[in-house]
Amino acid sequence: MIVSMEAKFKRLKKDESWDKVYRELPLKDIPWEILRPDPPLKKLVDTGALKRGKILDACSGAGTQSIYLAKKGFKVTGIEISQEAVKIAKRRAKKAGVTCAFINRDVLDFPFKKNEFDSIVDRGCFHHIPKYKRQNYLKGAHRVLKEKGKYYLKCFSYKNGKAWNYFTKEELIKYLTPYFKILEIKHIDRGADRPKGRRYFWYAFLEGK
Ligand SMILES: C[S@@+](CC[C@H](N)C(=O)[O-])C[C@H]1O[C@@H](n2cnc3c(N)ncnc32)[C@H](O)[C@@H]1O
Repeated sequence: MIVSMEAKFKRLKKDESWDKVYRELPLKDIPWEILRPDPPLKKLVDTGALKRGKILDACSGAGTQSIYLAKKGFKVTGIEISQEAVKIAKRRAKKAGVTCAFINRDVLDFPFKKNEFDSIVDRGCFHHIPKYKRQNYLKGAHRVLKEKGKYYLKCFSYKNGKAWNYFTKEELIKYLTPYFKILEIKHIDRGADRPKGRRYFWYAFLEGK
């Protein structure tokens, strides 16, 4: 029997598979965890393209990017569906001596005020949103971001092979342009950001319309 990805997602208890990863693997073995600032994000901060202010880390995971941004003077809110990841992120922020608000909740709820954030970081969040909820996600992100607020996006590229959550440049542009102006979009080679990285990505820097 063929079960659609959408049906599978509806049935799956939202946080259980993610929790399992964060519970069972040491951080260094989690495939997306780089334990340092994401290079394109760091460049945006270093060049001042991403200005200090209130920033939302969508799907904040173990808090690596949130903690880096807090150290740089951003006022960070992380939202993350895995309770385990939030526990780890809180512990790491405390150890690093920074304050971040980590919320354990489905990002699709976007429990924030309209125009609440100056910027959004989305490192591997959008591509995990089931296809049938992508419009809701983008609408939510657009609602909570200030007009002309900045949005850092990193998501899977079609070059990883055929899968429901890999985007061609054209697909990505089609999804994003109703809500955001694309300031920059770049393909990132396998391994460019992580020495042992197996995946290809799109990096995009966006501005709220
Ligand atoms: C690829 S990881 C990226 C984590 C983090 N952004 C980073 O760079 O390390 C994807 C994260 O999204 C979280 N996640 C998946 N679906 C979510 C949802 N609907 N709401 C909030 N978090 C979600 C997962 O628990 C996981 O931590």
